[in-house]
Amino acid sequence: MTAEEVPGFASGAASIALGGTGGREGSVRDGDIVMLPTDAGHYLVEASADFLVVGATNYLDRSTNQSMTYGSPNSDLQHFLRSWLSDPLRVSAVAPSGEALARLMTREISPCDGPILELGPGTGVFTKALLDRGVSESELTLIENGPDFARLLRHRFPQSRVLLADAARLGRLDLFPVASVGAVVSGLPLLSMSPRQVLSVLRGTFGYLRPDGTFYQFTYGLRCPVPRPILDRLRLKATRLGQTVRNLPPATVYRITRRPSN
Ligand SMILES: C[S@@+](CC[C@H](N)C(=O)[O-])C[C@H]1O[C@@H](n2cnc3c(N)ncnc32)[C@H](O)[C@@H]1O
Repeated sequence: MTAEEVPGFASGAASIALGGTGGREGSVRDGDIVMLPTDAGHYLVEASADFLVVGATNYLDRSTNQSMTYGSPNSDLQHFLRSWLSDPLRVSAVAPSGEALARLMTREISPCDGPILELGPGTGVFTKALLDRGVSESELTLIENGPDFARLLRHRFPQSRVLLADAARLGRLDLFPVASVGAVVSGLPLLSMSPRQVLSVLRGTFGYLRPDGTFYQFTYGLRCPVPRPILDRLRLKATRLGQTVRNLPPATVYRITRRPSN
């Protein structure tokens, strides 16, 4: 079956009919997904008030029994949802970050920070924001360990260097001259990683960062996702750069830099 739409049901419950008018009825609820082949007719019969579809936009018109399209298919959302279903811990989000978060993550970065390293770019929301800030694509190295995402990134950003690699093993790769990178933008799910992995990510990337270089990390959590003992061990400090509620879920961005030496 060639699936064109893969809506996932984030909350509530509903009855839907698949296969056009008079098609087969079934029920869905939070946690379910449906894979719909090209042009499959699908209708909403009834739904609870909190019924929410992700991976596509919800469009409901029960009075006319109009085709339930969930809006136009959005390939990035589908990509994310599929990747999340295959490896929820690695992907840690059912949808790409929004533009507001991408702007916040990249707002301090300028072309003179190149070369720039991005960790866990996914579908490239932050990558695009970096290009919007005038950074040249050829100055970007993208480290992604999801094979589907890496393929998509190579296609989307052909002049960047895309490596299918584990960001926790960066220190073992010889990617840049020591202290040459101006900024690291990280979408890594640090809260799903072990302290040992987080330590390796930071040790590896700070080996490449200039003395005044900055590591930007976002989190959905309430505090910096790098544990205090790791910051102390590497002599780093984390500063809250800002928060955006125009992201689902709301996210906070931290700026991590070296502590000044006395
Ligand atoms: C929460 S998603 C963020 C994606 C994108 N930056 C965004 O904000 O939309 C986490 C991303 O990190 C990638 N990832 C997770 N663990 C990784 C690792 N150890 N090395 C490289 N990439 C990793 C996932 O495949 C996924 O693309």
